[in-house]
Amino acid sequence: MDSVQTATQEMMKSMSELEVEVDKSKAHVGAIEMEAKNVSVWFGKRKVLEDVNMAFPKNSVTALIGPSGCGKSTFIRTLNRLHELIPGAALAGEVLYEGNDIYAQNVDPVHIRLSIGMVFQKPNPFPSMTIRGNVLSGLKLSGMKRSDHDDIVEQTLTSAGLWKEVKDRLNAHAGELSGGQQQRLVIARALAVNPHVLLMDEPCSALDPASTLKIEETIRQLSKDITIIIVTHNMQQAVRVSDYTAFFLAEENKPGYVVEQGATTEIFGNPQDERTLDYVNGRFG
Ligand SMILES: Nc1ncnc2c1ncn2[C@@H]1O[C@H](COP(=O)(O)OP(=O)(O)O)[C@@H](O)[C@H]1O
Ligand SMILES: [Mg+2]
Repeated sequence: MDSVQTATQEMMKSMSELEVEVDKSKAHVGAIEMEAKNVSVWFGKRKVLEDVNMAFPKNSVTALIGPSGCGKSTFIRTLNRLHELIPGAALAGEVLYEGNDIYAQNVDPVHIRLSIGMVFQKPNPFPSMTIRGNVLSGLKLSGMKRSDHDDIVEQTLTSAGLWKEVKDRLNAHAGELSGGQQQRLVIARALAVNPHVLLMDEPCSALDPASTLKIEETIRQLSKDITIIIVTHNMQQAVRVSDYTAFFLAEENKPGYVVEQGATTEIFGNPQDERTLDYVNGRFG
């Protein structure tokens, strides 16, 4: 009897492992662009992120959601090595980009940050530089020698959904643009160096609803060609723009961790964890 039970348990165990495998392959159709493996983070002695594992399929949009302070910004910064610029910051685990560890010794962080661009909450163009100058400002740093500057300016501003609004004043100062336009300008600036990944940390939280919708449209368009990872506090936004969602949480004085992740339709429509259900329905955070 015992041995039958054991055998059954063994069989069920291997079946559930099999299911997990099948599920994984379904959730990650296509190649994986980036992957975080067992990422933990410390500031000084304080651990703020615990063992995050996440895969980002090529040309998909992943939303990172969760209450303030649970480590979303910290996590997204580990994905292009901005994290290491913070004094006292430490990291364990691996971040793979196109299969290679971005923290490997021979990797130049400057090039990583060009391939894996970042857009912040507060738009940060160079205000006294022209619109055109802003778009092209990353190219020099990248060492890319391209002469088709006019094309780059038009293409990237078009992709960022800003071209029509600024095409007749490319030599105006970026500081003259509205907040929403400035945010689209820094997206164009990031795109000018041909990134494969764009990280966005609450890119719309300082913007009005109309600008927010423009950025969301831009995100959907961009995701045909690049992989996007976006932190958002706006649940409707996560549903509108993302294919995958990861829900982060941190209990008081404990490091943040991922409670649940998967297809956005599942996380919002059929979450497995009660805390996810409560969060996506606005019951806390
Ligand atoms: N530069 C820093 N130095 C020390 N602690 C930090 C720093 N940045 C963030 N933290 C801490 O790390 C935790 C996660 O913060 P953060 O990643 O900003 O969360 P979120 O983006 O989810 O609001 C918080 O407890 C925060 O206080
Ligand atoms: Mg944050």
